[in-house]
Amino acid sequence: MIIRDAVEADLPAIIEIYNATVPTRMVTAELEPTTVESRLPWFREHSPERYPFWVAESEGRVIGWLDFKKFLPRCAYRGTAEISVYVDENFRRRGVARRLLEEAIARAPSLGITALVGLIFGHNEPSLTLFRRMGFERWAFLPGVAQLDGVERDLVLMGQHCPARSAASPKSLVQPQINKGTSDSLSLMHALMQYRHEPIHSELLKIRDKYSMLHLDVLILIYHFAKICPGHILEIGAFVGGATIAAAFGVRDSGQNKKLIAIEPGGSVKHKRLGTRNILRDLERNLARQRISEMVTLIKGHSFDAATIRTVLETLGPDKIGLLILDADAAKRRDIECYGDTFAADCWMVIDDYYGADSNEKITPSRADVDALVDAGGLEPLGFYGWSTWVGRWRDLR
Ligand SMILES: C[S@@+](CC[C@H](N)C(=O)[O-])C[C@H]1O[C@@H](n2cnc3c(N)ncnc32)[C@H](O)[C@@H]1O
Repeated sequence: MIIRDAVEADLPAIIEIYNATVPTRMVTAELEPTTVESRLPWFREHSPERYPFWVAESEGRVIGWLDFKKFLPRCAYRGTAEISVYVDENFRRRGVARRLLEEAIARAPSLGITALVGLIFGHNEPSLTLFRRMGFERWAFLPGVAQLDGVERDLVLMGQHCPARSAASPKSLVQPQINKGTSDSLSLMHALMQYRHEPIHSELLKIRDKYSMLHLDVLILIYHFAKICPGHILEIGAFVGGATIAAAFGVRDSGQNKKLIAIEPGGSVKHKRLGTRNILRDLERNLARQRISEMVTLIKGHSFDAATIRTVLETLGPDKIGLLILDADAAKRRDIECYGDTFAADCWMVIDDYYGADSNEKITPSRADVDALVDAGGLEPLGFYGWSTWVGRWRDLR
């Protein structure tokens, strides 16, 4: 399962999930099913930077959603957002709502949200229990305010501060001594925050929606690294070009002549938003549409093929890689070993699929590879972004 920003094409699935809850009289105060058309203005009021709308997607299908909205219109309440979460009835009790809520709580501070509230019917015990487990407390009780089929129903306002009040106690506000790794991690978060106010943010949002499985934050970091890295760029697993385009824009804006090498064997992928019968055809078309074909050395093959490795080495010559984007299969260690000799000291690394889709899932093979390299001192972690992406730096052990 992945969580991503919703797009308008998701609206029919979103409304279907919503409408399925109407007759239950448990979840929504709506008494009749609603339509996609009538909900368009509501959907468009959301924005990824302030009041996001996320969907949980599994195998290309929307199985749940969560949205943020203004709690009350007056300015003083602007830090408080109301969240709603809905899950397809066929996917309940699988941790979908919990994952969405975890993400909402984790992301709230970076959205400028200082308190989250959920309005839940007093008889909706499963939702009340879930919110309680996620750290929400009962902040208000409104007795008999809803009439559902002639029955008076109570409304409970569940809330929590973000970050939790205990974490913001005066003791933790004392500026701690921070080491270089921590300060580099904070600088990355800061850079990401600043890009949210720049045109590249909306440029990459469109790229993400059209061409990428990665989270917008990850594409922005790829753009940032491609712009600042001293060496060239190697991408393994280009798919239809989302991350390739983000990196190319970074190279463009660096004003430097960096090589961007993308490796992709091709094939077909079933995916509701990004499905393709011919990855390489779509990749080449997308690079051409963005006018970046000339900037990209596309190697059609697997990362581990001798011919691919040879072409990478020939393209690089004596130069080094300053940014590695690794989003192919689970064999992260294999690819790092294939190309380790070409990495510059401090080479930036963006490695996807670190976490599994289900947070209860045991450690993913990708994570086992990355953790082993971190333990051996070959990789320095600097953060986790988006849905499951590890970000860090190469540490040359030789
Ligand atoms: C998850 S997709 C990459 C998504 C892309 N980064 C984006 O922005 O949407 C993984 C891609 O890796 C490719 N791939 C799988 N194994 C590979 C390998 N050994 N070498 C290079 N690419 C590989 C697949 O064909 C697929 O297109």
